[in-house]
Amino acid sequence: MKVDDISDVYRLGYRLFHSLEPTTLYRTWDAYEVTTNFNQDPRLSLVAEAPSGKITAFALGTTYEKESGSWKYGHLLWIGVSPRWQRAHVGAQLYHEMERRMHQDGVRMVFMDAARSNTSAVRFFKRMGYGRPETEVWMSKVIQAQPRKKKTAGEGKVGLSKRLRRKRGGPWHESARSS
Ligand SMILES: CC(C)(COP(=O)(O)OP(=O)(O)OC[C@H]1O[C@@H](n2cnc3c(N)ncnc32)[C@H](O)[C@@H]1OP(=O)(O)O)[C@@H](O)C(=O)NCCC(=O)NCCS
Repeated sequence: MKVDDISDVYRLGYRLFHSLEPTTLYRTWDAYEVTTNFNQDPRLSLVAEAPSGKITAFALGTTYEKESGSWKYGHLLWIGVSPRWQRAHVGAQLYHEMERRMHQDGVRMVFMDAARSNTSAVRFFKRMGYGRPETEVWMSKVIQAQPRKKKTAGEGKVGLSKRLRRKRGGPWHESARSS
């Protein structure tokens, strides 16, 4: 990807992702996704171009290491192919290039995530050799400004118990008491 490609990648991603069910709320498609990845991981920010030079697909990846353990991990954050070019193995080529680069950088394992309902992506990733899907539960709650009558477990029990506050002291002592 080059810096001039950022806006085209953002627009293509917007077309592809804004109607998809979000998998996780910590990641939504916006211009920062592209610019941040491009700045932090330019080697793992890839585009595919048609002979005309028009961008037909992109893939954004990153790597990380855990403090404990010696393995380096890759995360394929986003991959998208323009609808006109889908099922023509453009996604597969981009994916293989991403994997090759991650491997060169010392990555031993790659992760991806997609909504279960995104069956084409799930099939695509299975075809790319992914397995062992983990089921995670994402829950949400609308929080209200007014206090409700029925308390949920632990509600109202702010901060540490009196006994612990006395024992520990510290800068949070006063605010814990006043809240
Ligand atoms: C998922 C996506 C990237 C796949 O890209 P693509 O270029 O269309 O896929 P390819 O042509 O390289 O497909 C490779 C293999 O994956 C599988 N596959 C891909 N799309 C599929 C579909 N819609 N249905 C079934 N299998 C599919 C096939 O096995 C295919 O091989 P084959 O055509 O020889 O049978 C593309 O559909 C896309 O951009 N989707 C919208 C964005 C998205 O959901 N991204 C993933 C989450 S970030």
